[in-house]
Amino acid sequence: MTDNPVPEMYMVMKILALHGSPRTIQSGTRKLAGFVLAGSQDAGAQTEMIDLTDYRITPCTACEGCRLTGICIYDDDVAGIIARMKEADAIILASPVYVDNVTGQMKVFIDRLADAIHYQVLTGKYGCAIATTFESGGNDVVAYLNHVLNYLGVISVGGISIATQGNSGAIDAAEPDALTLGKILAGAILNGYSDPVQEKMLA
Ligand SMILES: Cc1cc2nc3c(=O)[nH]c(=O)nc-3n(C[C@H](O)[C@H](O)[C@H](O)COP(=O)(O)O)c2cc1C
Repeated sequence: MTDNPVPEMYMVMKILALHGSPRTIQSGTRKLAGFVLAGSQDAGAQTEMIDLTDYRITPCTACEGCRLTGICIYDDDVAGIIARMKEADAIILASPVYVDNVTGQMKVFIDRLADAIHYQVLTGKYGCAIATTFESGGNDVVAYLNHVLNYLGVISVGGISIATQGNSGAIDAAEPDALTLGKILAGAILNGYSDPVQEKMLA
């Protein structure tokens, strides 16, 4: 046994994507998130995707239990998802635009992060945001998801938003940009990433 730190060449980078489309494997947002993860894999990261719609996520009922005890009264899948977020070096939040906002699946999950947000439990991690839309709201949803990442203590390296206008090839056309975003995210884990505006906000 040795106390020597693990050399960087053996460092395992873990990147976790959480996506909020109810259309699971038919989802264009999921496909776009997969491209971002592929870019991170090319840079050496291990990646994982969570389809929020497949999990038991009870809406927050504002009981204040988490504030008083640190533990949510609902024994569903959220604690396990937060544990996986803590294990990751980077978090991706991805959602289609529903009525110019994130999907209900994503918002119900975000509301359950209130305690994690109060204590910025993901401080030191990096992240990015992804949205797809027919036409409207994509940039706003990316900005909102990056704001949520900041609330959690995560520094965002950016985001990608695709308005498909009903063109089924629009997501595939965005693959190069998505791969680049994934590489930037992995690079942030390896080399750090500084954004004074976000750092000031977090402080
Ligand atoms: C309930 C619902 C609301 C939507 N709201 C909007 C909207 O406000 N603006 C828009 O341009 N597209 C809207 N769309 C279209 C989706 O954002 C778009 O098809 C998205 O790419 C679907 O992503 P997915 O394939 O990952 O599920 C909506 C779709 C649904 C089902």
